[in-house]
Amino acid sequence: MKIAILGGTGKEGSGLAARWAKAGVDVVIGSRDAARAETAAAELNQLHQGPRLTGASNAAAAAAAERLVVLTVPYSAHKATLTDVKSQLAGKILVDVTVPLDPQNPRRVIMPLEGSATEEAMAILGDSVHVVAALQNVSSGSLKDIDHPIHCDILVCGKDKDAKAEAIALMEKLGVKAYDAGGPESARAVEAMTAVLIGLNIKYKLKHAGLKIWE
Ligand SMILES: NC(=O)c1ccc[n+]([C@@H]2O[C@H](COP(=O)([O-])OP(=O)(O)OC[C@H]3O[C@@H](n4cnc5c(N)ncnc54)[C@H](OP(=O)(O)O)[C@@H]3O)[C@@H](O)[C@H]2O)c1
Repeated sequence: MKIAILGGTGKEGSGLAARWAKAGVDVVIGSRDAARAETAAAELNQLHQGPRLTGASNAAAAAAAERLVVLTVPYSAHKATLTDVKSQLAGKILVDVTVPLDPQNPRRVIMPLEGSATEEAMAILGDSVHVVAALQNVSSGSLKDIDHPIHCDILVCGKDKDAKAEAIALMEKLGVKAYDAGGPESARAVEAMTAVLIGLNIKYKLKHAGLKIWE
């Protein structure tokens, strides 16, 4: 399996890249600057013995992915990044991790008119791309603590059942339990919950507050 992580040079994307590579997934890190992506990949390659990570421009990374492309950019870069890679995403699954946090106060979200970043991605990309939302509630600190398990569950939202099943299989490679949490509109609650978790981290001086589904 070869996946791409657009914005994979950043905090969330590099943590995911390290964990998936450790689990045997081929990862292409994407960046606005291919050289920056190659440097990030080279640094992560020092950490494990799994498949080699590689780096490329966001468009080349999206093109190289077989099926799944993960998006980890700040909300301010969401629309521009998706517009840039739209043609390379055709026929693939976009796993959107973006949270539209209020830049003035990360304990709040400012949702786009479509309802959530996930639904906005669907509007930008159209029917040729399956958009699935996931991982918005997992902190980069938890991902980067690579020798310890991730102590939270993943809520996966989206329109297409088969695309969600493929995304859930990718999540499970992180060693977590992932749930189909409903249609794209469920992403409104999941994205907003990230702001609540950030607020809990601040108020209670926690490192990585997360969600667990009690069964
Ligand atoms: N950090 C967390 O704990 C966490 C947890 C859950 C969800 N998320 C969500 O995941 C996404 C990424 O978060 P992050 O903390 O990883 O962000 P980040 O480190 O600030 O940025 C990630 C990458 O996005 C690219 N980028 C930054 N500004 C950009 C711009 N103006 N235009 C285009 N690309 C830009 C950069 O890559 P290049 O410069 O290489 O292009 C950067 O390395 C956000 O939507 C965030 O809400 C984060």
